[in-house]
Amino acid sequence: MRILKTVLATLVISLGVVIATASGIIYSGVYNVAATSEHWPITRWVLNKTVHRSIERQAAGIEPPARDAEQQLLVGAANFEAMCSDCHAPPRQRPSVAARGLYPKPPGLTHAAHEKSASEIFWVIKHGIKASGMPAWGPTHSDDEIWAMTAFVTQLPDLSAADYQHMLASAQAHGIGHDHAHDSDAHEHGAQAQPDTHDNAEPPETRHDDGDTPHDHAAHDTHAHG
Ligand code: HEC
Repeated sequence: MRILKTVLATLVISLGVVIATASGIIYSGVYNVAATSEHWPITRWVLNKTVHRSIERQAAGIEPPARDAEQQLLVGAANFEAMCSDCHAPPRQRPSVAARGLYPKPPGLTHAAHEKSASEIFWVIKHGIKASGMPAWGPTHSDDEIWAMTAFVTQLPDLSAADYQHMLASAQAHGIGHDHAHDSDAHEHGAQAQPDTHDNAEPPETRHDDGDTPHDHAAHDTHAHG
């Protein structure tokens, strides 16, 4: 009985110490939230493992649909340029200045194309990753569009910078842009249920609607040495 009491008392005191320490860290402001202050290796390992296992589990059971490959890739390329290239470097290019300042850094997606299944990539694009900067595109985009971006991402290891520019040019020639992608998907889906989605679009989307904006080139090229 005495042992049980001692064990209980030790547990309660330990818990108190843990709570007091945690409160101390939270309220004192000593924890540095700067994006330039990297996680400890152990924290990084825990976060990476948690994200990785969560994606694997959440994506289990998602079946990629069969698609008209070429059209889908062009839609994917145009959407990648419009929505992803601010953070994930386009094929064989340096990441944008914004991407270089983010923490965690948005990875180049060639690695994901090798390591992740199409279902996992689809899941990440649709749902995003909490507290990381990776947005969820599901709330504003149809599954068809997200599968098109998934198809494009899975092709990344085989694409040169010239291939990519070529795809963007043919997308444009075929009238496949970010907005047009919505129109062209509507017939398959019958489901561009919120035609006004773009009125609420995020600034990066609207900015990119102008097509080849000087901004992109500035971000990827001119400031590359900054
Ligand atoms: C605002 C920046 C930002 C934008 C825009 C963005 N991402 Fe991400 N993305 C990230 C970050 C940061 C991560 C890494 C998250 C982590 O490691 O926890 C990430 C991770 C990913 C991953 C997982 C990569 C891996 O190796 O595990 C995929 C796939 C991905 N993004 C695809 C996309 C696609 C496709 C788009 C465009 C529709 C996009 N992202 C737009 C920031 C962004």
